[in-house]
Amino acid sequence: IGVMAGTAQAQAYPTRPVVMIVPFAAGGPTDVIARIVGEHMSRTLGQQVIIENVAGAGGTTGITRGAQAAADGYTIMMGHMGTHGAAPALYPKLRYDPTTDFEPIGLAAGTPILIVAKKDFPANNLAEFATYVKANAAKLNEAHAGVGSVSHTTITMLNAQLGVKPAQVAYRGTGPALNDLVSGQVDFMCDQIVNLVEQVKAGTIKAYAIATPVRSPALPDLPTTTEAGMPDYQVSAWNAVFAPKATPKEIVAKLSDALDKALSDEGTRKRLLDLGGVIPEGRERTGAYLGEFVKAEVARWTPILKASGAVAN
Ligand code: MLT
Repeated sequence: IGVMAGTAQAQAYPTRPVVMIVPFAAGGPTDVIARIVGEHMSRTLGQQVIIENVAGAGGTTGITRGAQAAADGYTIMMGHMGTHGAAPALYPKLRYDPTTDFEPIGLAAGTPILIVAKKDFPANNLAEFATYVKANAAKLNEAHAGVGSVSHTTITMLNAQLGVKPAQVAYRGTGPALNDLVSGQVDFMCDQIVNLVEQVKAGTIKAYAIATPVRSPALPDLPTTTEAGMPDYQVSAWNAVFAPKATPKEIVAKLSDALDKALSDEGTRKRLLDLGGVIPEGRERTGAYLGEFVKAEVARWTPILKASGAVAN
C-alpha cells in the first residue's frame, strides 16, 4: 500500500509549491540563474518554484540542508561547480557526497569566469594586473563566497599561477562581494559572468579577461585570458539542479522535463544569454548526464585543490 500511495503521489506531483534552495546570498549568480530558470519551471509544473536562500560555508550549508530534506520533490536545490565539484576536497567533514547523495536533475547554465577589480584599481589590462598584484600582494584584499565556492576555487587557481597569497574576505555569496567591489572595500575577485555583466557595462568595476577559449557575446570587447597573455588560466563554472537521493523517478523526470522546457524557452534563453550564461545542450539537461559530469568534476578538482592547501576547518 505504501508503494502504491507513493506512486499515486508521484503521479499527482506537484500539488503544492516546490522550494528550490539556493546555497548563496540573494542577488548573486546562483540566485539569478535559479530565479530565471525556476520561473519558467513553475509554468510547466503548474506550481510556484519558491527560491530559498540558505547561505554559508561556501554553499555547503544549503546543500547539506537540501540533501537531508524529504525526498518528495518539494525541496530541490541549485548546486554548482563548488558545492558539487570542489567541496569534497576542501571540507574533510562534508556531510554529503555529491556523487551519491542526490538525484541529479540537469545542468541549468554554464558560467564563464571573469577576473575583475574595483574601478580605480591601478591596472588597465591583465598584464598590468598580474604585475601589480605580484608586487603588492601583501596589501591587497581579494573577495570570495566562502571556501569551496566557485569564486574561492577560481581565485585559488589564480593565486597559484601568480605565486601570491593576498588577504581574503569571505562573503555569503558574490552578490554581496560585488557590492563591496563596487564601493571599493575589496580589490579584486574571480566570479561567474552572470553576476558581472551589468556592472562591467556600467563601468562600476573593471574586467580584465574572460577565462574561456572564446569571448562572450555578452561582453564582446572583453579579451580572453589567452588574448590577454595568461593562457594557462582557463576555467568555467556551471550551475545545476539536484533533488535529494531517493526522490521518486517520476518526480525526477517531471523536474528534468520542466528544466528542459525552461532552457528551450526563448524568453528564458535570452535572459540567461544577456548575462553571459551558456545554455546547456539537450542531453546536458538530463539527470544521467549530470550524474556522470559531477563524478568527473570531483575527480578533476580534488587533486588541484588538495595541492593548493586551501582546506577548510
Ligand atoms: C553565488 O551565487 O554567490 C556564487 O555562486 C558564489 C560562488 O560560488 O562564488
